Amino acid sequence: MEWFEDETLWADFSDVLFSAERAEEAEARVASSPLLRVPAGAAVLDLGCGPGTYAVPLARRGAAVTGVDLSAALLDRAAVAASAAGVEIRLVRADMREFVEPDRFDLVISMYTSFGLFADHDQNMRVLRNVRASLAPGGRLMIDLYGKEILARDGGQPKIIDVEGGTLIVRGTVLDEWTRFRDDFVLVQGDRARRGHVVHNLYSAVELKAMLGEAGFADIECFGGFDAEPFDNHARRLIVRGVRTLGDA
Ligand SMILES: C[S@@+](CC[C@H](N)C(=O)[O-])C[C@H]1O[C@@H](n2cnc3c(N)ncnc32)[C@H](O)[C@@H]1O
Repeated sequence: MEWFEDETLWADFSDVLFSAERAEEAEARVASSPLLRVPAGAAVLDLGCGPGTYAVPLARRGAAVTGVDLSAALLDRAAVAASAAGVEIRLVRADMREFVEPDRFDLVISMYTSFGLFADHDQNMRVLRNVRASLAPGGRLMIDLYGKEILARDGGQPKIIDVEGGTLIVRGTVLDEWTRFRDDFVLVQGDRARRGHVVHNLYSAVELKAMLGEAGFADIECFGGFDAEPFDNHARRLIVRGVRTLGDA
């Protein structure tokens, strides 16, 4: 079983991975980021939407949001969050390697390192091609990742984090000569310790831009944060965008 198919991971760690602070951060970004500005009624696909971290605030701003995720547990959380916020979101349980709805979306977002999960490069390319097919002509893809340059600069040191009722220990390991990254978690609450891990590909800006180019996207650009900062030595995220140009098949 691949790590992302393991529902116990989300059951054990979703409260700490998808904390109230992250939900507030997403709400603030959706309110202020020029990269997340969408006209009311725009059709938005959140690929790997998790518990609705971005889907809910985007719906609150009037977007018609579809959230796709493989985890039933996280989709349940997204449904609860949408209902608490008084918005409707279309939630679809699907594998992003299979999900295609031709010409449907004005914007596709992939947030918080939800892209590059598959060890096989062709499967990640397949996700990009599915996205391009699902975009309406002129529509845009935006991917937000923990990029390779940022990891190299910030060091990926082990972290000990206070969480509700306990402590979370996170240790990152670079794998396969900087092509993959594994985060191991240990959550200690009272006498109970639970382990989990995630693994994803590590992309530099140049590598990710080349993949979007290969998948047929145009006007590919790169940012270092949600205020559309340049991707330079101060970058905090690797954000890459590309457009499905008008008229391409
Ligand atoms: C790091 S989480 C990010 C969630 C959300 N985007 C956020 O910002 O909070 C990655 C998400 O990708 C989902 N995911 C993993 N593999 C998937 C797949 N093959 N198809 C669809 N979703 C998948 C996970 O279930 C999880 O919700």
